[in-house]
Parts: sequence; structure tokens; C-alpha cells
Amino acid sequence: MSARVAILTGAAGGVGRAVAERFARDGWSLVLVDTADVVHQVAAEVDASAEGRVVGAVADITKAENLDPIENALREIGQPLKFLGLIAGVLQEVGPITTLDMNEWDRVMNVNLRANVLMIQRFVPPLKESGGGAIVTVSSWFGRSGHGLFAAYCASKAGLISLTQSAAAELADDNIRVNSVAPGNVATRMHFAALQEEADNRGVSFESMKKTEWDKIPLRRAAEPAEIAAAIAFLAGPDGAYLTGATIDVNGGVLFT
Ligand SMILES: NC(=O)c1ccc[n+]([C@@H]2O[C@H](COP(=O)([O-])OP(=O)(O)OC[C@H]3O[C@@H](n4cnc5c(N)ncnc54)[C@H](O)[C@@H]3O)[C@@H](O)[C@H]2O)c1
Repeated sequence: MSARVAILTGAAGGVGRAVAERFARDGWSLVLVDTADVVHQVAAEVDASAEGRVVGAVADITKAENLDPIENALREIGQPLKFLGLIAGVLQEVGPITTLDMNEWDRVMNVNLRANVLMIQRFVPPLKESGGGAIVTVSSWFGRSGHGLFAAYCASKAGLISLTQSAAAELADDNIRVNSVAPGNVATRMHFAALQEEADNRGVSFESMKKTEWDKIPLRRAAEPAEIAAAIAFLAGPDGAYLTGATIDVNGGVLFT
């Protein structure tokens, strides 16, 4: 397989790491991006099983001036950029819209929306230089409709689905496909922290809260992060060649109950 690089944001998180492991197995070189130094450790661990090179880059991607380490890592690898995986995201503090702290609103919008625009602006030029490629955003089933107590998160993810379509329309002529994966619940620390918070609010145990939520899912369980990574790998590769502007629901059927 010819040398090619993918940039993955949120790579130290549950989904991001699974995507890194999957892409490494598929022969990609990788720039792994996250806010904390731990991303270097993740890069070293993924590198152990990779055919290509894996380099970590520490960056808070909500500010344009923070993106230089990512570009430097890309240059260090020195292969054509063919994929941008926009996985980083944050959940909001759960609460009613009537008392929603606007700093919290801004924090969620900055990571879940603004940062993805900045990443597209900075890294579409190298994608074009390499003759095109693919971008995948990670939205959510909470972006498919609004849910009480999650106004900022739902609006940010609905916005991300729309952003994905706009980018797809604009970049098709450059041979860049842009799609989204909308997970349901995924067995990562984000999901388990949300379950714990809800259990505490309701005064019930974590296990009973988990059962309540998972029983709403036709497949009766959260996704493994690798199952989200599989959908992203599909969209990145030749089997996804006729998809652009699409959002694939990988949610165990939860939208249809
Ligand atoms: N876990 C779920 O149940 C679930 C469900 C639907 C959608 N999602 C989405 O999947 C994506 C991955 O979630 P996850 O479960 O792996 O969560 P996670 O919290 O394990 O990982 C998210 C990662 O994003 C990183 N990040 C946050 N802000 C950043 C910033 N400003 N710059 C760079 N990195 C930043 C975090 O440090 C973290 O490592 C998110 O976009 C999330 O909204 C998750």
C-alpha cells in the first residue's frame, strides 16, 4: 500500500484511540492529536503495532494558533495527507436551557463546532496537494434530534452534521469527500461519566442506570469503540467512494425505538 497519512483529533479518547489502532492496522501513518501529553504515550503504544509512522501532537484545537504542532508532525512524517478524522468532542454539564451557563455553551460549541472549522481550514490545503482524500466528523445520535437537559451538546452535534454537508458540497470538486459518523452510546469514559452523573442525580446505582439506558437500545448494549472505528475506516477507504455529505448512524438502532 502506498504511504499516506491520517490526522486524528481526540486520539487519546476512547473512540480516537480505537480509530488510531484500526488505521495503524490498515497501514496508515498517523498524526494523533489531543490536549494532553498522554497523546505521546498513545502514539508510542499504537506505533508498536503500526506499519507506518505514528507521531503525537499536543494541541487545544479550538484556537488557530494552536495548530502548528499538528502541521509540524505532518511535515515530520513527510507523506501525503489523505484523511482527516475529526473525533475530538466534549459533553456538556447536564442541565436545563433556562439556566444554561453561556460559558458552558461556548466551551461546547468551541470544541464540537469551531475547532472542526479551524481544522478544515488548516488541513484542506495539504489534502488538496495530495490529490484529495476524505474527512470524517464524529457527530452523535444527540445531533439527530434534541434531548432535554443537553441543549448545547445536541445543538453542537446537529450543527456538525450540517457543517459536514456544507463542506461536502464545497470540497467535492477537489476530490475530498466529507461524511459524518453519528454514534449512539459508546463504551468510553464519556458515556460512563454521563451514566454516573445521571445515576447520582436520580439516586440510583450506576449498574441500574446503565441497564435503564441500555434497555432503550434495540441491540441492548453500547457500541465498542472499535465498532465506531470500523465505520470511520469504511468512509475513509475505497468502499466509501460514492459517499459524501452522508451521516452514518452507528447506534444499535436506538433512534428507531
Ligand atoms: N461516548 C459516547 O457515548 C459518544 C456518543 C456519541 C458521540 N460521541 C462523540 O464521539 C467523540 C469521541 O468521544 P469519546 O467517547 O471517545 O470521548 P472521550 O472523552 O473519551 O474522548 C474525547 C477526546 O477529545 C479530546 N478533546 C477535547 N477537547 C479537545 C480540544 N479542545 N482539543 C483537542 N482534543 C480535545 C479529549 O481530551 C479526549 O481525549 C466525541 O466527539 C463525542 O461527542 C461519543
